[in-house]
Amino acid sequence: MNNALIDHAEAGYQLAEHKAAQYFASLHNQLMNNTYTTVLMQDFHQWQKKHIHRFSWLPWISRTARKPDSRDVYRYIHWLNVTGKLDEYLDRSISYIYMRDLGKALDTPETQARIQRVVQDTKRYFMRKDGAKRQGQPDFISLAALYRWAQKENVETAVIWLIQKLENVASNIPKELDAEQAQRKLIKIILGVVLHVNDELDETTPIPERSKRFDAAIRLGYSYGLTYPFIDDLLDSQALTSQEKEQYSLLIRKALLTGIVPDIGEWNGDNEEVIRYVHSELREAFEYIKNYQRPEMQRTFFEQSYVFFQSQELDRAKKLTNANYTNEELYIPIIIKSSSSRLIVRSVLSASEDEGFDLRTFYYGIYNQLADDFADMFDDLEEGAVTPYTYYLKYRDLRPDLINPYELYWTVISHLIHSVYNSDAKTREVILNRAINGLKRSRERLGSAKYNEIMDIFASGQPEFNDLIQRMVRKADDVDFLDKLLRDQVVVHLKNDKKEKEDFIQTVRNVRERINMEVQISKPNAIPEMKETLIDAANYSLQGSGKRLRPILTWVMGVREYGLSEASIVPLLRSLEYMHTASLIFDDLPTQDNASTRRGRSTLHQVHNSATAELTGLFLIQKAIGEQSSLSQFDAATVLTLIRYSAEKAEDMCMGQAMDLNAKGKAQTLDQLNMICFYKTGIAFEAALVMPAILAQVKDSEISSLKVFAYHAGIAFQIKDDLLDLDGNDLLLGKPAGQDVRNNNSTFVSILGEDGARKAMWEHYCLATDALAEMPKHIPFLKHLLDYMVGRER
Ligand code: IPE
Ligand code: IPE
Ligand code: MG
Ligand code: MG
Ligand code: MG
Repeated sequence: MNNALIDHAEAGYQLAEHKAAQYFASLHNQLMNNTYTTVLMQDFHQWQKKHIHRFSWLPWISRTARKPDSRDVYRYIHWLNVTGKLDEYLDRSISYIYMRDLGKALDTPETQARIQRVVQDTKRYFMRKDGAKRQGQPDFISLAALYRWAQKENVETAVIWLIQKLENVASNIPKELDAEQAQRKLIKIILGVVLHVNDELDETTPIPERSKRFDAAIRLGYSYGLTYPFIDDLLDSQALTSQEKEQYSLLIRKALLTGIVPDIGEWNGDNEEVIRYVHSELREAFEYIKNYQRPEMQRTFFEQSYVFFQSQELDRAKKLTNANYTNEELYIPIIIKSSSSRLIVRSVLSASEDEGFDLRTFYYGIYNQLADDFADMFDDLEEGAVTPYTYYLKYRDLRPDLINPYELYWTVISHLIHSVYNSDAKTREVILNRAINGLKRSRERLGSAKYNEIMDIFASGQPEFNDLIQRMVRKADDVDFLDKLLRDQVVVHLKNDKKEKEDFIQTVRNVRERINMEVQISKPNAIPEMKETLIDAANYSLQGSGKRLRPILTWVMGVREYGLSEASIVPLLRSLEYMHTASLIFDDLPTQDNASTRRGRSTLHQVHNSATAELTGLFLIQKAIGEQSSLSQFDAATVLTLIRYSAEKAEDMCMGQAMDLNAKGKAQTLDQLNMICFYKTGIAFEAALVMPAILAQVKDSEISSLKVFAYHAGIAFQIKDDLLDLDGNDLLLGKPAGQDVRNNNSTFVSILGEDGARKAMWEHYCLATDALAEMPKHIPFLKHLLDYMVGRER
């Protein structure tokens, strides 16, 4: 590597170190002089007027307006509104975000006005009419909500790109890392970058400009956010050997110093595959950021990134077994890393210099870091991580010189309120709220015994001050924050979602196996040879890599949702797969799509001839009807209803195929495309949902919402099929890609283009999600089936 570059970067780090050392010395000084407690006690006397309610002993007041569990977001927000607390709640939450994430000072009229606007927008969002109906299921943390926002801001393409990226990260992340945590962090960073951009726009910004900026913010946010899981967390984890970590961090150092991501070259270690994925993803991200940057900003970006990386490396190298770290060694890298991580956001965006922002952000970082480390103290201790708290816990008796991080935390707070934010009343209000909220949350999480134990360790040096704080923690009210509530929601949501998804995958796997055993057609003894040939041909087409989605869906609805016995509906499961397989045999014929492979094997007409294929298709349809009429555990009228319904749907499907063939090479409207796809593909999904409902004699209104879901999910499924035909892998698909172009078919892709087709697919995804929300019962399987339909690779 070029020595001049290294020297330059090192000089940059030393400068940052010097600044941080000065800041630290000043904090240390304030701590030693103990000026902060007197100052803060005065602050709290002011503050408590709004937060300690003298009449809180009136029990009936609290009983009539019982605070609902904040996990039920809509009810909680409505309760805040009814009790007249909502405006203040939102005001403090948004103000805090402006201070923390956007590096603003709260005392300018301009910032105040902006905050008020966001407060009103947020309020309107939560108070909107259909919000309340979704109680219990926060609909704003979902792909559908994200996509709806994308549509509003005209950034669908970027959001579709992001969804794909996040999916890839989740599936490629080494198991030693916490995938949900990684996703949460990524989302948070992206949100931060988007907020920054949002703050620079106003109603005078032309719409196309607005979309362009958001589009870039999403991609930049992802590109920068990626460094958290893929650099910091990866190097922190046990996924790589120490030798691999060394190689990897050398690569990163080189990239930051030269501005060019080096090739991996030869890799010594077992985790080459992980590294190759991470490397290629980071390279793409790096290039994207670099290309976005104005040339004069590039340098700042690389310098800041180097400083950030270097401070983390120093921090990472610390061992809890080393008893000799000085206070400076403990705190200076923290000051640097916590501030540079935020400073970079602006340079990622190529935003113009803003000295006020830089200064505030520099002073602010350590406040957040100390708050986070306080909350994570026990997890960190378990992992042997060195943080000011874990280190103090371990060495406080041996090392009387060690600074108490909790005392430093309050020193920082006092310094921020009075020196950085000029004793602004609003700032004091918000920061003290946050501090008390943090302690309250810890007390709740740890239980009061453990909490008191910690306080004995950290807070006993300032008994009078601590008495006041603990009184606030016990008695103060109205200190909640929206971002904490959302964070809790996201964590719960990601956890649930993961569990549900695992359950979905397991169910699909198990039921598929059951169905595979049931669909084979047996050959009775002594039947004519030709019939044997037909049965063999039918079994040939039934075998192979069929996904069995339709009967699986029927099984889940029938057995799990409606409580029908598996044995009673086996004939129905068979009939669905027979009908579907017949449709595939016909679809592949030379007179239709003329396909050479299906389900990973040669198509039936190729193995035999078209006549045999046609006859096998007819044979399978008759078999299906035979199965339906042997649903002997249901009453005859119900079975007849089912058969009638099934026959109608089969007719419709023929019509769909005819429409599809007829559309070849012709322009189609969106309505026509939807119609073709519904009839040729959606119908079968509708049947898979409706037929078990008929057997279970479900109410018509419930069946209607199933149909709406099937309509949109089915079309989304076909659009995905068209997209896979464009860029899928033959081997994975088990059928040849590129058929549609060869056949000059009119599909969503050929008519709307790839991007347009993806947008149409996500629109149907959202509509199918809405249909699920309308259903009387929450059926997680359907949600995950839908996710699978649009995310699948085969
Ligand atoms: C293929 O359906 C035909 C379409 C409706 C696009 P599947 O993709 O479900 O095919 P198999 O059953 O898994 O082979
Ligand atoms: C098929 O659509 C619809 C059927 C129900 C047969 P396609 O013709 O796109 O299905 P594939 O791609 O051949 O599976
Ligand atoms: Mg076709
Ligand atoms: Mg086809
Ligand atoms: Mg196709």
